[in-house]
Amino acid sequence: MNKIFFVTNNVFKEQEIRIFFQSNQYQKFNLLSLKDIDFRDSIPESGNSFKENALLKSEFFFQKTHLPCFSEDSGLKVEYLNGKPGIYSSRYSKTKNSMDNMKKLLSNMIKDTSRKAELFSVFCLKINEKDTYFFKGKLSGKISRKIIVNQGFGYDPIFIPNHYKHTLSEINIDKKNKISHRIKAFKKLIQFLNNRNF
Ligand code: IMP
Repeated sequence: MNKIFFVTNNVFKEQEIRIFFQSNQYQKFNLLSLKDIDFRDSIPESGNSFKENALLKSEFFFQKTHLPCFSEDSGLKVEYLNGKPGIYSSRYSKTKNSMDNMKKLLSNMIKDTSRKAELFSVFCLKINEKDTYFFKGKLSGKISRKIIVNQGFGYDPIFIPNHYKHTLSEINIDKKNKISHRIKAFKKLIQFLNNRNF
């Protein structure tokens, strides 16, 4: 079976992808994580766009290991804040702690009446030295006025997907995986691999 590595140190992202992967029985691939080869280097994220960051992560891993891999970069774009925090979503506040990030965001949005926002994800798949591919997904929604922490990560406690009454933090991973930006992008990646002799 083909081995493919998910280049991430984010345990929540890894869990979402693994649960989706297992529940869909993609028997053509063996999904591995950095822990499986004890890869402990800190992964660069110094690009100027989601796409650049995703590429940096995959390139970094590939240059060190020469193993096929994919990585993901994602974030929250708030219309009222002209797309911020964007690529800085995980480091929006000084502490970079997700509770502080959310508090800062809510305080910057006090006058926002539309609350419109989008979660965005881009995957970068690197199969070999030459072949690199990108897959995108988004989830539109609104930012709540209160933080409701239950499960999930990042801005889940304040993100209400369109047509939903609850935040992402109030629904379980299986339900989140049916609609999320990350899974929309990941499905495209899987479909691409399935259609190709990899
Ligand atoms: P990065 O891709 O490692 O730069 O981090 C993505 C950041 O975007 C996370 O730390 C969260 O702050 C935010 N984010 C991305 N996806 C989600 C999600 O599914 N729910 C909530 N926040 C997310």
